Amino acid sequence: MHGGKGFGGGEATRDPAPTYINPNDPKGKQQAIHKAESFAEYLAKRGGGGGATPSRPTSGRRPIVGGNWKCNPASPYDLPALVANINACDTSSCDVYVCPSPLHVGIVYQSFNNGAYVAPQNCNFKGCGAFTGEMAVDQMEAMGIKWCLIGHSERRGEFGLPTPAESNALLATKLAYILDKGLNCIFCIGEPLPIRENGIDAVMAECRAQLNEILPILRGLSDHSRVVIAYEPVWAIGTGVTASPMQAQETHAGIRQYLASAVSPQLAANIRIQYGGSANAANAPELSAQPDIDGFLVGGASLKPEFAQIVAAIAAAKASARF
Ligand code: PGA
Repeated sequence: MHGGKGFGGGEATRDPAPTYINPNDPKGKQQAIHKAESFAEYLAKRGGGGGATPSRPTSGRRPIVGGNWKCNPASPYDLPALVANINACDTSSCDVYVCPSPLHVGIVYQSFNNGAYVAPQNCNFKGCGAFTGEMAVDQMEAMGIKWCLIGHSERRGEFGLPTPAESNALLATKLAYILDKGLNCIFCIGEPLPIRENGIDAVMAECRAQLNEILPILRGLSDHSRVVIAYEPVWAIGTGVTASPMQAQETHAGIRQYLASAVSPQLAANIRIQYGGSANAANAPELSAQPDIDGFLVGGASLKPEFAQIVAAIAAAKASARF
């Protein structure tokens, strides 16, 4: 397992006043986001954001939580219990989606009775035809599926899959195809442990590298709710080691700041950014309280009844932030 220092859940790291310097600032002016500073606070300081900043910033972004079942369960007879976990979620104040394994999408896709969306874990970008082993966005569209997840680190080459790693260019092609077909997309990014060990500047450089190919697509996006960024530090996935709330907030705010400068302040303010990596019912409330965390992408805990508590935690946190 990853044994990184300083990534303990709950306890914030004590590295000295890290800042994120934006090298793409058009004015060449150094801009810094201090630890746990929200994007709203950042905008207020630099005089942007279109108005007064309330004492408790309201994002206006609807929370979103996804359950990634990955390659589980082994038996289809175990699917009803997993479907029940999703149907137990209160979706009145939070979007919910579930990513069944490819083999099980067709079994469960009509089983959700609370508005939860089905989001396959991958897709091709060519449509139907002679593409053995693939799932076409066109097939998803015909099944009424509205969301698709791409770019998970386990498809970007982490965790030893023997298949070729999916490149940033390939993922941009997939994203364009998904949006073109009218579906929405959860786009995953995140850094492996050696990059995190080099500090927040290295983390942000990696996040920028994973986002750069899709910037032209984001610039053309009129409905900013159609793309969700899932920030999942690789060292936190499946390890039981969660990013601390301050680490996650700092990175989410940095991603938002980058999107503000590279796409537009409007997209940056509207786009939802999920945290993923050992999220569970115990750590969801504190992570949910961070202003730039709009939801979770949940792996292991999405196979358990506690998934509904994660949805409830972020819905409650964002509801209370409105007052
Ligand atoms: P985890 O997985 O919650 O089990 O860490 C998250 C993910 O990979 O999406």
